[in-house]
Amino acid sequence: MPQSPFDLLTDGRVPLYLAPQAGVSESPFRRLCRSFGADVVVSEFVSAEGIRRHDRRTHSYLRFHDEERPIGIQIFGSDPEAMAEAAALVEEVYAPDYLDINFGCPVKKVASKNGGSGCLKDLDMVQRIIRAVRGAIAIPTTVKIRSGWSEELRHPVEIALRCQDAGAQVLTLHARTRTQMYSGTADWDEIAAVVQALDIPVIGNGDVWRGEDARAMREHTGCAGIMIARGSHGQPWIFAQARAALEGRPVPPDPDVEERFRIIVHHARLAIAWERDEEKAMIEFRKHLGWYTKGLPNGRVLRQELFAVTSLREAEEKLERYAEEWQGVAA
Ligand SMILES: Cc1cc2nc3c(=O)[nH]c(=O)nc-3n(C[C@H](O)[C@H](O)[C@H](O)COP(=O)(O)O)c2cc1C
Repeated sequence: MPQSPFDLLTDGRVPLYLAPQAGVSESPFRRLCRSFGADVVVSEFVSAEGIRRHDRRTHSYLRFHDEERPIGIQIFGSDPEAMAEAAALVEEVYAPDYLDINFGCPVKKVASKNGGSGCLKDLDMVQRIIRAVRGAIAIPTTVKIRSGWSEELRHPVEIALRCQDAGAQVLTLHARTRTQMYSGTADWDEIAAVVQALDIPVIGNGDVWRGEDARAMREHTGCAGIMIARGSHGQPWIFAQARAALEGRPVPPDPDVEERFRIIVHHARLAIAWERDEEKAMIEFRKHLGWYTKGLPNGRVLRQELFAVTSLREAEEKLERYAEEWQGVAA
């Protein structure tokens, strides 16, 4: 029986979360990251409207394996009633461990309709959504926010307090504004201020690129948990490194080329089994191939070759040829 994410957040262990990421934090990658020590995983953001319309594609984002638990499903939308209905449906049909509300997504399509970070301009609406969702489900309701909409509307503590007030049980802060998108650096002082101000557990997010960054974030902010997004791209082993750093143990080195390639093939097999259509799965897998091979000597040529493959066998051949050629060279 996996531990509840809430026990994990309060027993002092500082759980590591794989961040919700559209097109990245899918079931195969979530399982891979769990195997490297991610304590909790979250689905990508899923449209409340799509859920209640029973849109097939939308529902495909809600599927997960039991071994991924504890898992949160993240939903977005701007209509409290629709959000509540979608949350209840997700709980009943998919039974995740908790439900997370996205108030952070900067994508125009979402924010302009007031979903995601668009809501950050209207805190009354944020509260209405949280109350409606919390009232509709028995599993915990958590929220993920940014520091604000823009530099002028940057008030993370106020937003966080309003979320807590409305019934959010855990809050994740990505300490950037919507207008920053992913530029600049995340302001960890803001995470520290929110940790100080709130009674509920706060998960810190933003700019954990290496295992040591997790320890630095924890020390800087006192956050109850740490969420990693881009730092996991092409290096799911970051979770093992972060855990070691948090515990003050020596941080394990990055895997060598051969080990890295074994991980790629394992990940690709999971993706193909999940997708069922090998060619489609391998085309979608190209982004991971790009990330995994970043920084390898002569990696550009390898990447070009890998971006043309349509089967795992082809990818394995390219990787084997590369490994023979570059044997003994550290990644
Ligand atoms: C490709 C990509 C997709 C993302 N999709 C989502 C999403 O669906 N929901 C969400 O709350 N945040 C999403 N994010 C934001 C991340 O969860 C995270 O807050 C942000 O990347 C900052 O963390 P990092 O510095 O560790 O990357 C996404 C980020 C990336 C890079």
